[in-house]
Amino acid sequence: MTTKEIKVRWKNYRKANSEKPHARENEFKKIFSLVAPERCMKIWEVGTGNGYLALPLAKAVGKNGEIITTDVDAGSIKEAIKKSKRKNLNIKVILLSPKKPFLSGKKYENLFDVVTSLATLHHFDRRGTGDHGRKKALKYFYRNLKKGGRLVIGDVLHGTISQKYFHSIDDPKHCFPLGHPHNFFKKKELVKAVKNAGFENVKVKIAYVPWRFSSVKEAKNFIHTIHNARCAKEESFSIAKKYLGFKKVGSHYELGWELFFLTAKK
Ligand SMILES: C[S@@+](CC[C@H](N)C(=O)[O-])C[C@H]1O[C@@H](n2cnc3c(N)ncnc32)[C@H](O)[C@@H]1O
Repeated sequence: MTTKEIKVRWKNYRKANSEKPHARENEFKKIFSLVAPERCMKIWEVGTGNGYLALPLAKAVGKNGEIITTDVDAGSIKEAIKKSKRKNLNIKVILLSPKKPFLSGKKYENLFDVVTSLATLHHFDRRGTGDHGRKKALKYFYRNLKKGGRLVIGDVLHGTISQKYFHSIDDPKHCFPLGHPHNFFKKKELVKAVKNAGFENVKVKIAYVPWRFSSVKEAKNFIHTIHNARCAKEESFSIAKKYLGFKKVGSHYELGWELFFLTAKK
């Protein structure tokens, strides 16, 4: 496994999202409404990806607000910088080291109105590292929020269909190059970790936020590309259908997806 192969993994993740921006609109709408961005807010978004959340947040907070988005993947950072310049948005895009993937230092402490993250918290640990990375991340989220500031996280919870699906693709041929070597919090563990980081009013809800497609072919391509699969498209799609469920709803198709949405206060 090389750094180049990991870069391709995230390049394809971004490609799937950029080509089909509406596929994940259910989860996008959910997290966007919980963040509830307002003019002039300062927000730290963790896990830039293709700028999926950071760009609309920047539009919403306007020129007097600020979005800082961070990622450990240089390609994601480059793409977000390019898009934010093109759209003339007020975003600081910061590349962090995988060894220290946090905004650290006095200048970031007590700075943000909201810290938010979508589909990224589980990446702070690999199977075998326990929950050390996620707990450390939560401490930095707390430290960098203003008093009264809010934490809003959307990610996968243990026991959901999304977790079972990820477990089933933990193999390089289904998610290249590493498989999907991540554990997910159970609800009680998550609440405890967030409270231990200092947060109050911790609320967690699981939401069914299926991915939407206009055709079977579109769903098949998306699932193969987003996880950088090396098997045949038919194979990755049949695993997805088995664990997530796939159905026609009105004029579109839905692939099942479940995320927890957590809100908490400093
Ligand atoms: C599944 S993507 C989610 C991206 C975006 N938030 C979205 O919803 O489309 C996970 C992101 O976490 C980043 N990442 C990977 N390892 C990480 C780590 N150790 N610490 C922080 N972020 C990491 C990846 O580069 C990737 O952009």
